[in-house]
Amino acid sequence: MCGIVGYVGPNADGKALDVVMEGLARLEYRGYDSAGVALVTTDGVSSEKRAGKLVNLQSALDAETLPGATTGIGHTRWATHGGPTDQNAHPHRAGDGGRLALIHNGIIENFHSLKKGLLAEGVTFESETDTEVAAHLVARAYAETGDLTEAMKAVVNTLEGAFTLLAVHADSPGVVVGARRNSPLVVGLGEGENFLGSDVAAFIGHTRQALELGQDQIVTITTDGYTVINFDGTPAEGKPYEVTWDAAAAEKGGYATFMEKEIHDQPHAVGDTLLGRTDSDGRLVLDDMSITEDQLKDVDRIIIVACGTAAYAGMVAKYAIEHWTRIPVEVSLAHEFRYSDPIASERTLVVSISQSGETMDTLMAVKHARELGALTLSICNTHGSTIPRESDAVLYTHAGPEIAVASTKAFLAQITACYVLGLYLAQLRGGTFADDAQSVMKELHEIPAKLEELLGRMDRVKEIARFMADTRSVLFLGRNVGYPVAMEGALKLKELAYIHAEGFAAGELKHGPIALIDAGQPVFIVVPGPGTPHELHKKVVSNIQEIRARGARTIVVAEDGDEDVVPFADEVIRVPATSPLLAPLLTVVPLQVFALHLSTAKGLDVDQPRNLAKSVTVE
Ligand code: F6R
Repeated sequence: MCGIVGYVGPNADGKALDVVMEGLARLEYRGYDSAGVALVTTDGVSSEKRAGKLVNLQSALDAETLPGATTGIGHTRWATHGGPTDQNAHPHRAGDGGRLALIHNGIIENFHSLKKGLLAEGVTFESETDTEVAAHLVARAYAETGDLTEAMKAVVNTLEGAFTLLAVHADSPGVVVGARRNSPLVVGLGEGENFLGSDVAAFIGHTRQALELGQDQIVTITTDGYTVINFDGTPAEGKPYEVTWDAAAAEKGGYATFMEKEIHDQPHAVGDTLLGRTDSDGRLVLDDMSITEDQLKDVDRIIIVACGTAAYAGMVAKYAIEHWTRIPVEVSLAHEFRYSDPIASERTLVVSISQSGETMDTLMAVKHARELGALTLSICNTHGSTIPRESDAVLYTHAGPEIAVASTKAFLAQITACYVLGLYLAQLRGGTFADDAQSVMKELHEIPAKLEELLGRMDRVKEIARFMADTRSVLFLGRNVGYPVAMEGALKLKELAYIHAEGFAAGELKHGPIALIDAGQPVFIVVPGPGTPHELHKKVVSNIQEIRARGARTIVVAEDGDEDVVPFADEVIRVPATSPLLAPLLTVVPLQVFALHLSTAKGLDVDQPRNLAKSVTVE
């Protein structure tokens, strides 16, 4: 969703525009439909904004001579209030001749009543956005206080909802002020220059030293440094940290798209998430754990809250954690959990899964779980993001930056982290599966090499995708851990190729969806390994026969050596064998590759599919 950049640099350089545009380009992955910048120059504030991609903004800037500026802010907007037009794009100007410029991420929920008040005072509006209200309010407060930080403080306390705001003022050159509530904002600390960004990608080309801000805080950056205060004006301190990846990690590295690169990053995403998880006694360890072992031993129920792909990782986790710990696990879409009057107690562990750590639906579910007294644990890929900060404990995935809007490597890293959590709980609580933890970890450590091998065998999947460029509907079937994999395969195809796709539990088909099968209907079937308990393998093979008999074109994802599927498969895609609960780390890969190449065959934008945002920071 909206991307935000702020910069203050040395007087001699006047490079604010370049830094801000570079930051916006690095934030493009978040998804957006318009963009804009504002610069503080000796002549005041100059700004430019355009609907559409950054190239539109760049052409508008090329047509102007903007004097070198040392201070600037930039914004990519994902429309919420008001369509994606030039007028609604940010920055919004306000104050005497537009001396203030302001950008915003989030939603100001009480903007209607605030706007009414401003209209009554004779203020005129140029856009339909909630943001412009904040711009007028900060400009008015600045006129009273003559201090941008004070003006921001006066206004944020009147706003409801979720927001990150950044402001510059013509009378305060060399200053950018930011404020955050429930929306992301991090500080980048340079030498004689400082940065603000929605995430570290905004300034990773310049510094890896970052500062995490807390909830309801205001930060003021200048060339000399920064100050942080709480919304009530009391001094605060950010938490400094070093970003562990560099600018190259956020680039395509020779691949045509970020998604393709990220699919190939998956062996590392899994391997790195497993790193350092065992202490010298062979016991598993988690990250920042402020939940005690006694509390965890006492947990009698786990609820996983997440959205989209992360929720499918949670569904895979349910099968594994229940099997290893015998603790009942529910998986709830975060937005459904939050508003369903859920039941939770101090013996409930609510596990949130989020790549970005900023998904508003998931954040609200976590906050609600805490209100109910539950223990909260965040599985997250983004250091310094909001959800881990709002949780009692965190287990970081180490997938590195995920830039493509559609999640791939974060999904594998999330599943891996869930396995680690399940095995940790099994070990901690003792019981039948405690002793197996080390052997499962050993198998998990073999997955990166199997992923490398699998990625080397994808040529046929790419061919199938190209042949199917005109397909209008694809179904995906799976059982047990294969069921969420089927749903993830369908989601990837919807997102990337805009094709109708649905994932079903294979056993459910005969209860209705089998009516969809007619001659030539393509169906992917994720087949559990022949070693899977409860004869599941046999049952899925029967499901393949049922649909084949009705004319379906069967594309079967099966383990190496599984010959039982061959007579009923139009295509067999082979994956290396592993134990049944770990199989999703492999079986999902051909489905990701299929969606990527079908989208490419249709000439679509793989990394930024229409209507989607990488980080969904509204409810
Ligand atoms: C799909 C996808 C989304 C996200 C969902 C949650 O490819 O990326 O479904 O998984 O929006 O996002 P995070 O994990 O950032 O909370």
